[in-house]
Amino acid sequence: MALPTYAHTFADTPTLGSGATPAGTYSNLDHVWKAAEPFLRTRMNDVHLPMTVMYAEFILDQEPDADPEVTRVAALLHDVGWSRVDGDKILTEGFRSDNFLTSDIRVQHEKYGCDIAREILPGCGYDDAFITRVTDIIDGHDTRKEHHSLEDAIMRDSDRLWRFHPTGLGFSAEWFAKSPQWVLGDLTGRVMGEMITPTGRAMAEAELNASMRILRLDIL
Ligand SMILES: [Fe+2]
Ligand SMILES: [Fe+2]
Repeated sequence: MALPTYAHTFADTPTLGSGATPAGTYSNLDHVWKAAEPFLRTRMNDVHLPMTVMYAEFILDQEPDADPEVTRVAALLHDVGWSRVDGDKILTEGFRSDNFLTSDIRVQHEKYGCDIAREILPGCGYDDAFITRVTDIIDGHDTRKEHHSLEDAIMRDSDRLWRFHPTGLGFSAEWFAKSPQWVLGDLTGRVMGEMITPTGRAMAEAELNASMRILRLDIL
């Protein structure tokens, strides 16, 4: 099968998949990770969320007007709400139904995520104003069509980026019960077009160019 080619590669775009690390100096969030840890086992969030935070930091390197703390804490917590939904429905309704992106279970994981953020963030030293900025991003992060702030845009891009990496691409195939080829079609036909920031888009291209090669998507 003929594969698409994208302009950006690891040669010009620092990103997680190439082994690069973010250039900026970011605050230590170990206390937030520890507070969130009981909620991370569901739906591979202990893999998805660390990768999302790192992608957010690569974008923050190029977006000096964004608030890095709000963006990173929102990225860290955005999916913790999956831990409180009916586990049997995560795959059937959250991934394999016709309306999976707007399904009730998707809305629930956003609402429960806001609840958990409000429960744990005061103990991490954050005030109400900060917590509201975080929950404004978590609320609707999958079901809302538009972003409403730069920090929201960066979080949304970071959330999508792992899907272009072999790890997220593989989990997507499993969760949607489809082949990697099908996931590739979803990435090129839908998700790539949803990337918002120039840095996020460049990383998506670089990651996907590599993933197509690594996973032999020309054949498999
Ligand atoms: Fe989500
Ligand atoms: Fe996510």
